[in-house]
Amino acid sequence: KFENLAERPPMGWNSWNKFGCEINEKIIKEVADAMTSNGMKAAGYEYIVIDDCWQIGRDSLGNILADPDRFPSGISSLVDYVHANGLKFGIYSDAGTATCQGRPGSRGYEFQDARTYAKWNVDYLKYDWCFHGKQNAEASYTLMRDAIYKAGRPMVLSICEWGTNKPWEWGKNVGHLWRTTEDIINCFDCKNNWGGLGVLQIIDLHTEIGEYSGPGHWNDPDMLEIGNGVLTPAEERLHLSMWAMFSAPLMAGNDIRNMSAETLKLLTNKEVLEIDQDKLGISATRWMKYGDLEIWFKPLSDNNYAFCFINRSNQPITINHDLKTTIKKFKVDGNYKVRDVWKHKDVGTTKENVVGVLPAHDVIMLKLTQIFL
Ligand code: DGJ
Repeated sequence: KFENLAERPPMGWNSWNKFGCEINEKIIKEVADAMTSNGMKAAGYEYIVIDDCWQIGRDSLGNILADPDRFPSGISSLVDYVHANGLKFGIYSDAGTATCQGRPGSRGYEFQDARTYAKWNVDYLKYDWCFHGKQNAEASYTLMRDAIYKAGRPMVLSICEWGTNKPWEWGKNVGHLWRTTEDIINCFDCKNNWGGLGVLQIIDLHTEIGEYSGPGHWNDPDMLEIGNGVLTPAEERLHLSMWAMFSAPLMAGNDIRNMSAETLKLLTNKEVLEIDQDKLGISATRWMKYGDLEIWFKPLSDNNYAFCFINRSNQPITINHDLKTTIKKFKVDGNYKVRDVWKHKDVGTTKENVVGVLPAHDVIMLKLTQIFL
């Protein structure tokens, strides 16, 4: 695969969670403009990814065709537009015969499609897994990796087979990120009957697989549901905090052209994004679970640490936690300054306990920086 394309978890926006099939070039251009002007680009968001439904068929030579009603100017000119904004462009296809929405898949056209994307100057491919029949997942994704490599243009390869074939075990040399789960659904604590998972259910899947993730090859717990009108502000904070704890790719999934000031502020919280983008790229470990209170822990570069206290329940939980004992398990001695990265406030040191009341479904996210006293 092309190396060094995703040394930090990719950040950007993807059309699916908000728009589904209802996409067109006007929306994509406006999203690129919004990302550039609203501060998201400056905060690190970079990829604009169009998901399913941009394609309509193939020409007589087998070349993939964009839907001319929705993308009258063609994909190549859309890519140019996104590039002119200083952003990168991601496209979508499927390893099987059709995409999940029944558009043409890349099966049997891998090399041809990769050449087309390269000709259009695409930077990123999300590669789905519908209609795969009896295909082998690792072989199918490896084939597309090789096709991109042969096409000669560096592209991030996003493996999207929903964790069904344990991609964390083979994805490292194949793609740059792999989905660990079925699709996220827009809720905090629920599942649906086709396997869609809420925020808490996705978090639970990440208790065992953190070690597989790292620079250049990331666990992908799916795109964000922040700003899509269902999660409360506390739940949204918890969602972003935990994705940052996992060093997850951060793909906004809302209509960033029309979002509230609060949503924008949340998505661009620099201190939280820095934890996501930390260069060590270590995914958090669930350190403790006391009923509905969980404490997650993530080592950061420069001997710093991040902690998240999450309250899964509908009731407030009182906290009185001795972090010093906790960090001793990882690091002998040392005192740390404790900063609340949502409040943007230094709140003490590890010499004192963390005390307070954690409201229902809320999070406290702390960054510990070593001090020498
Ligand atoms: C399934 C994927 O998991 C989703 O993220 C989205 O790409 C849809 N397919 C599109 O059909």
